[in-house]
This record gives sequence, structure tokens and C-alpha cells, in this order.
Amino acid sequence: MQGERVHVFDKIETLNEAAAHRIRECAEEAVADHGAFHVALAGGQTPVGVYETLRRLDGFPWERAHVYLGDERNVPGDHPDSNYRMARESLLDHVPVPAGQVHPIDTGRPPDQAAAAYAELLQANLPRDGQDRPRFDLVLLGMGADGHVASLFPDTDILRRRKRLVAAVYVEKLETWRISLTLPAINAARHVALLVAGDKKADVVRHVFHAGAEATPLPVQLIRPEEGPEWFLDAAAGRHVTGAPA
Ligand code: 6PG
Repeated sequence: MQGERVHVFDKIETLNEAAAHRIRECAEEAVADHGAFHVALAGGQTPVGVYETLRRLDGFPWERAHVYLGDERNVPGDHPDSNYRMARESLLDHVPVPAGQVHPIDTGRPPDQAAAAYAELLQANLPRDGQDRPRFDLVLLGMGADGHVASLFPDTDILRRRKRLVAAVYVEKLETWRISLTLPAINAARHVALLVAGDKKADVVRHVFHAGAEATPLPVQLIRPEEGPEWFLDAAAGRHVTGAPA
């Protein structure tokens, strides 16, 4: 898995710039194609620098953007652990996306009802691909050191969802509920970008890039959009990935 879709950056600032510019490219492509840009934001901490860089980019078609969350913790939208709160503080409160085009997950409802409501929203809002599947223009993902993406953790039943776009999942290791896009929702996306930084991710990156056929692939190895995921790695996370640093 080499080539032009794997970028290793010496500095996190360069990763942030490159990822922000790629997001703008995806937005311009989507707006030219169908007049809107439907993007699912990654949660966690790695994307913060990308979002803070993105909000400073000129010429971004924010008025055409529809912003979703790839997953959410089962907490109120103003809770310190909320991905929506992180996205607001690092990006959404600083750019002119029309209020009706920002779509948080409604964690005020029980997780399964929140997931069902979000799936209905996606069905109603997203453009369709050639197989009439709801299709994000871009899904941004982080990755945990265990190879999870969004809230698709290893050995969880959400990984087996083949029809639903969004599901609630109880994550034993975290002793908490999450609401997350499923593999079908992510893999139907026009573009998927993985934002991965830090030394603790290096071993799982090596596993992904150098693994053979896996009896039980890690969730990140199940991210298989048509064109394949695009990786944005810093030098620490990508230290086992061959290829010149970008
Ligand atoms: C979340 C994210 C999760 C995150 C990874 C990486 O809700 O936490 O969806 O999948 O992207 O855990 O997190 P960091 O970027 O903070 O390392």
C-alpha cells in the first residue's frame, strides 16, 4: 500500500497544511460536481491541528458545506469529551457554514435512537453513488493504537453491519456507548482520509502496511473505499513506512 496515497510528513504542521489543502480540493471537486460538499469529521485530538489550519484557508466554499460527525461519544454536545464540541472549538465556530448545514449526532437520545435518527438524516441528505448508496464526498478518520477508526473498535458487533449507515455500539474496553458511521457508510465515500500522528501509532501502521492476509483484520484494514484511503502520517507514526517523507 504505497504510492501517492501515503504521505509521511516530517512535521505535524506540514501534515496539517497538506490535509487541510486536500480537504479544500475535495470540497471544490464536490461543489463542481453536485453543488455541495458533504463531509464527515473525525473525532479525537489529531484532527484539531488540521481543523485549525483549515479554518484559515482562503476560498473554501463553506456556504456549500454540510458537516457531519463520523462518530460521537455518548455525552452532551458541550461535554469536554464531545467530538462535536471539539469540532466547534477548532473549526465550526470560526467558519461560515450555515447553521442548518451542521449536523451533530443527537446524544440527548438513547444511543440506538440517536443512531437511527442520524442514519435517517444521512439517507435524506447525502447524494447517491452509482449503486444508489448514500455517499459522503469525504470522510475524515483518525486511528487508535489498536487500529480502530471512528468508533469501529476491534471485536465489536458494529463491524458486522452491512446495511445500516449508523449504529450504536457498546465499547467494553471503554465501558461506554458510542454512535458511529458503519463500514458501509465509510466505504461508500468518494474520498477517505486517515489522519494519524504520534509514536504510539507506529506499530499498528507497520502492521497495516506490512501485514499479510489477516485472519481477523483490524478495523482500519476494513476501510476500503473505491479509490482506497489516503494516509496523512507524521514521521513518528510513519517511521516504519518506506517512501520519502513528503
Ligand atoms: C474518537 C475518534 C477516534 C479517534 C482515534 C484517534 O471519537 O475518539 O473517532 O476514532 O479518531 O481514537 O484519536 P487521536 O487522534 O486522539 O489519537
